[in-house]
Amino acid sequence: MSIQRRLALVAAAVFALLATWGASAQSAQEQALVERIRPVGEVCLEGDSACAAPVAAVASGPRTGEQVYGAACVACHDTGAGGAPKTGVAADWADRIAQGADTMLQHAIAGFTGSKGMMPPRGTCMNCSDEEIRLAVEYIVSKSQ
Ligand code: HEC
Repeated sequence: MSIQRRLALVAAAVFALLATWGASAQSAQEQALVERIRPVGEVCLEGDSACAAPVAAVASGPRTGEQVYGAACVACHDTGAGGAPKTGVAADWADRIAQGADTMLQHAIAGFTGSKGMMPPRGTCMNCSDEEIRLAVEYIVSKSQ
């Protein structure tokens, strides 16, 4: 083998080495960057193996109407506090049910003041989704017909 050919081979080998080293160094840098800008709270979905421990609230979807009711609505609607129509008392709900589910839901989400008192927005459950409020209203209605 001529000396030029040997030099050319060595140069090619060095070049190849540098190229792979450069590529891996760059990906290591990218990794570090991704780590640094990763959001503090990650959303983990059930079955997502990238997250070790999925957050229960996300994984289990919306709370049931009964759960929302028990957490946020029971204080007023079980006792009739502040003029609230009582759950389980059909007479308290007949007129409200008659006006339609959409109106009741709208009132429950936005809140409203009627002749009996003040229904606070979302029954004060500020972390309840519209869907959860809807389920809670459905729960009340199912117990009050
Ligand atoms: C601080 C007391 C209070 C809490 C807590 C509360 N409510 Fe009410 N709610 C009321 C009162 C008072 C009324 C009646 C207002 C009126 O008609 O004058 C009412 C009325 C309603 C109505 C009837 C709306 C209509 O159109 O007639 C629905 C539905 C309702 N509440 C759902 C809920 C749900 C669901 C929750 C829990 C997420 C909840 N409320 C929590 C006091 C409360």
